[in-house]
Amino acid sequence: MILNTLKKQGVLALLAGGFFCNGTVAQQELIVDLSEKIAPIQPTMYGIFFEDINFAADGGLYAELVKNRSFEFELPMMGWKEPNSDRHSFNNNSGIAAPVKYMNDSGNENFCRVTVKDASGYEMINEGFRGMGIKEGDTYNLSLEAKKFTGDITKIIVQLLDENGKVIGETSVVPESSEWKTYDGKLVATSTAEKAQLKITFEGTGEIDLDMISLFPQDTWKGRKNGLRKDLVQLLDDLNPGFLRFPGGCIVEGRTLAQRYQWKKTVGPVEERPSLINRWNTEFAHRLAPDYFQSFGLGFFEYFQLSEDMGAEPLPILSCGIACQFNTGELVPMEDLDPYVQDALDLIEFANGSTETPWGKVREDMGHPETFNMKYIGVGNEQWGPEYMERYKVFNAAIKEKYPDIIIVSGSGPFPDGDYFEYGMKELKKIGAEIIDEHYYKSPEWFKENATRYDSYDRNGPKIFAGEYAAQSVAIASPDNKNNWDTALAEAAFMTGLERNAEVVHLTSYAPLMAHAEGWQWTPDLIWFNNLKAYGTPNYYVQKLFSTNSGTDLFSVKENGEALTGQHDLYATAVTDSKTGEVIVKLVNTSGESQEINLNFIGSKISGKGEIVTLMKGDLTAENSFEAPQNIAPETEEIRIKGSKIRITLPAYSLNVVKILKK
Ligand code: AHR
Repeated sequence: MILNTLKKQGVLALLAGGFFCNGTVAQQELIVDLSEKIAPIQPTMYGIFFEDINFAADGGLYAELVKNRSFEFELPMMGWKEPNSDRHSFNNNSGIAAPVKYMNDSGNENFCRVTVKDASGYEMINEGFRGMGIKEGDTYNLSLEAKKFTGDITKIIVQLLDENGKVIGETSVVPESSEWKTYDGKLVATSTAEKAQLKITFEGTGEIDLDMISLFPQDTWKGRKNGLRKDLVQLLDDLNPGFLRFPGGCIVEGRTLAQRYQWKKTVGPVEERPSLINRWNTEFAHRLAPDYFQSFGLGFFEYFQLSEDMGAEPLPILSCGIACQFNTGELVPMEDLDPYVQDALDLIEFANGSTETPWGKVREDMGHPETFNMKYIGVGNEQWGPEYMERYKVFNAAIKEKYPDIIIVSGSGPFPDGDYFEYGMKELKKIGAEIIDEHYYKSPEWFKENATRYDSYDRNGPKIFAGEYAAQSVAIASPDNKNNWDTALAEAAFMTGLERNAEVVHLTSYAPLMAHAEGWQWTPDLIWFNNLKAYGTPNYYVQKLFSTNSGTDLFSVKENGEALTGQHDLYATAVTDSKTGEVIVKLVNTSGESQEINLNFIGSKISGKGEIVTLMKGDLTAENSFEAPQNIAPETEEIRIKGSKIRITLPAYSLNVVKILKK
């Protein structure tokens, strides 16, 4: 629609021949040279970075609706209300939540004992993750573990309540055993609510023990029972990601070593995975989330499965024995590093080992006898200094000895320049690091200025993983940062520089990926969601235009013999796609004025048919939102070309992807 309007206004002209429909003669000639391939574009070029920050896993991608389902939070009744607990109480009639402690083999320690003294009833209500998103007509699967302790509780009634307390779904289960037993039920929602709650009441009197009280939508990604939220995975899948990096981010490291991410505790039966505080829980005083824990229902098996679903290479990152250096920086002594290294070796076995191996067997038992064909592993997230190098070398030696084909990703610290970065790069180059992860959270201006960042990188040195980046409209980690068009356009300009340097840059990902509109800690983020809806930001659409048009081979696009890296606010890159036979030219105009260009293809004939996809907005402060999710979204227009030239007017502040079939 926008393009049509512009055409009518004579601003956009896509014509075969020598002049624009508004009569202006093209000033700038851009030569797309298809005679000489510069480098392959790696299939991993554009991927996604997933971290459980901003309620991205529990409360987000992982579709569980019950918060603190197994009473494992530090305050075991957090998330649960007991409106009439003055009459009936948890444990010892104290009226205070105090779940009984018990131990089992798995370390899943808490359950809650409910005492119902008379027919007037006791009720407990789970508030969900800032409420529960419930959709009219949809079915929800309930499951809970129960054990009758004393007396005779004859029924457990489970209801969904909307924001006004109206019942919008109901089921019940009949507890029958004095041993732990799992009971299932189904609720069908009679109306939609963004902030529903789950209420549990009882019939009969006595004491009953409860654990793993769980509610999932039946309609999940690929229909998997107790799986992932479909709309969110769809947004990820639509990016056609080349890889999936998981599980972070700083969450890998933990504030202390005890709080680091330990993948072995995230596989196997879900009810046996011990919960852990989320390190973003109270990281920022301005966005406290004391109820943020990790259930690990979305664990390493699920991450591998998700990678497989999306055709993305799995890229797990593991702790290297250093807790987050922005927090404690706790170090595991070198003589105690072995278990950490063993975790890495065992992970490779879990992903790639035969079902005869111990960890391959765990994978098989989880329903995936085939290997996950993992090729990459990351050692450490954002570590710096000699302590990192010392530990990294031990991992490197052990992994390469046992699995020489596994490619190791190392880190260059949290900043793209400065002492930590210089030191890390120098040392990693010395030991022949294969892929180095760089992070940059910088201003939009920095991104535009750094479109040339990789032009001078050694083509024979380590390959680069631009593993975390996002333009910050205010300042790094400021709660006022916006996902506006200014940041997205600057990232687009920068990304032409990533792509132009595909010889060096092999993987890239925006960060963070997702944020709950009420549960976030960090902004900006690629995708925003609430309990019912989700939308892609302008930054998302920039990523999508690059990742779905990545091509397979890099060629040059030049003006006066020079790559376009910001001259008169223009940035460009050109690729071909051997699968589709297309030539794809990405053009970014960061100027507030439209620009007229003449694209001249040499070295190969182009067909007369093509299209141009444009992402644009005259207003740099514009954003997408739940109300206007497509305020900034791509629009496609067909083009017809005669000969080898096309003339285009690039609208002010626009990303344009020109796609033409080769002859
Ligand atoms: O993306 C948010 C955080 O930024 C990541 O966890 C960390 O690696 C970086 O500092």
